[in-house]
Amino acid sequence: MISDRMQKALNEHVDAETFSAYLYFSMAAHFDHANLPGFAHWMKVQAQEELQHALKTYDFINERGARVRLGAIEAPDSEWESPLAVFEAALAHEREVTERIYKLADLAEADRDRATRVFLEWFISEQVEEESTADGICQQLRMIEDSPQAIFMLDRELGQRQPGPPPP
Ligand code: FEO
Repeated sequence: MISDRMQKALNEHVDAETFSAYLYFSMAAHFDHANLPGFAHWMKVQAQEELQHALKTYDFINERGARVRLGAIEAPDSEWESPLAVFEAALAHEREVTERIYKLADLAEADRDRATRVFLEWFISEQVEEESTADGICQQLRMIEDSPQAIFMLDRELGQRQPGPPPP
């Protein structure tokens, strides 16, 4: 049996993952406007992955016999000073998401809710990858920040990103 407070927290997690998608769509729009279609493509793929994370949580709430109730999604930022500033914002955001998932795991342990605790394992592992990927691109951007030619090359590379398989 899922507790009321866990049901509420998981519903908030659906909202948070949906906000992540919204943020990455906003970053994609920023890059499309800046004529960096590869960066924009990368962000669109990321946004789709975030929607999968939201849906995975949605399905889990239903499987536990609880009720999905969606909340309001705030407007994301839409302007950044540079590609590096965008990816630094993405990394900061992913770190916040990681903290949110750790709090969910703490709550599951406090509730002795083993099923939710196991469910969250996948998210905990996924966050390691999400932070590492965003951090890696930040590091590349710091190296090439002053070279439009190198930014152009990275744009082509990021444009090759393929969507990953849906989460299990
Ligand atoms: Fe769903 Fe990027 O965390």
